[in-house]
Amino acid sequence: VPPVLARMTPASIPDYRRAAQARLPRFLFDYIDGGSYAETTLARNVADLADVALDQRVLVDVSAIDTATTLFGQACALPVALGPIGIAGMSARRGEVQAARAAAAAGVPFTLSTVSVCPIAEVAAAVNPPWFQLYMLRDRGFVAAMIAAARDAGCPVLVFTVDLPTPGARYRDVRSGLTGAPGLAGRLRRGSQVALRPGWAIDVGIGGRPLTLGNLGGVLGAKTPLSDFLGWIGGNFDPAASWADLEWVRRQWPGPLVVKGILHPDDARAAYAAGVDGIVVSNHGGRQLDGAISAVRALPAIRDAVGGDVTLLADGGVRSGLDVLRYLMLGADGVLLGRAWVWALAAAGEAGVAHMLALLTAELRAAMAFTGRTRLPGGGGVPRTTP
Ligand code: FNR
Repeated sequence: VPPVLARMTPASIPDYRRAAQARLPRFLFDYIDGGSYAETTLARNVADLADVALDQRVLVDVSAIDTATTLFGQACALPVALGPIGIAGMSARRGEVQAARAAAAAGVPFTLSTVSVCPIAEVAAAVNPPWFQLYMLRDRGFVAAMIAAARDAGCPVLVFTVDLPTPGARYRDVRSGLTGAPGLAGRLRRGSQVALRPGWAIDVGIGGRPLTLGNLGGVLGAKTPLSDFLGWIGGNFDPAASWADLEWVRRQWPGPLVVKGILHPDDARAAYAAGVDGIVVSNHGGRQLDGAISAVRALPAIRDAVGGDVTLLADGGVRSGLDVLRYLMLGADGVLLGRAWVWALAAAGEAGVAHMLALLTAELRAAMAFTGRTRLPGGGGVPRTTP
């Protein structure tokens, strides 16, 4: 490898962030990177996680480390899944398929967002059926049809995201022209950012078509809302969604059901009472309620409330394998990656996600060795017990 390229080889997840910034048009990089309002909660997720001290232990035989676990009956090479990311297919050509391939090769689950570019059937046919993430839209008939599509495609897990009653305001998206810039003026603004990123324009802008919300053809018809993606979310996500809707989803989905976006122990108890198999402790990566508690600070009380009853996942701020161990030490059975995998996807496609997961694995193994562990703490998930 020529020295100049070797210098550019990403050695860490934050390196992939910088590589993504160099590759993506500004409105897309800021969409991925940003959080809501002052980005306080986004910063807390990262800082509070880094603040969890790792317990160095010595002279333990760590020659045989095992990072494997089981999540919802599925064998996983790591206590990690790729979490749902809307319009990830804008980051690389048919991006959700590329990321799903890398995840499958690494032995970790991939979660497909409701608002993905690639539809469920495309990912299922190209790789294997992904975990499917559901948002509650106003049109319940369409939601029921999406759940049925996920079931028919063989998706093993349904992840129902509940922390988006209304879209969090993200200043960066306004400044970049992703939101609030309709019509010709907006197209020109975004177009000028695309012109500065010809590599992206050829790979994704042209080669990645159709750039539509693949799962939503039924409600959108041929018209793509990608030019005002976030406005469409505000108009079509259902702010009336309630616990009764979670019970409704439970009745439609016989398989493992995970509710994503829980921060309060009372909500965790209510989710358990509604019959979920898993909970993702999450503030949506600091993209919704700014000022909310970090996911890692919220985790212990939720573990005390429902740990042992449901499988506990957590996300927010994972930027290394050390961070994975930190969440597990505090009681998570597994973690979801968010920005980490989209940055790698944007930077280098499937190979980038594969390399990022290899880095994460090496870091997790090292963290386990330094802390005297040959097995994951806790972990393994729990089969749901009847309430
Ligand atoms: C998200 N997240 C998200 N969650 C979800 O349930 N459905 C979705 O469509 C999206 N879309 C989305 C887009 C982008 C660009 C980001 C960064 C995040 C939230 C995501 O699943 C996860 O909760 C956070 O990303 C975790 O925080 P970190 O790891 O990104 O810090």
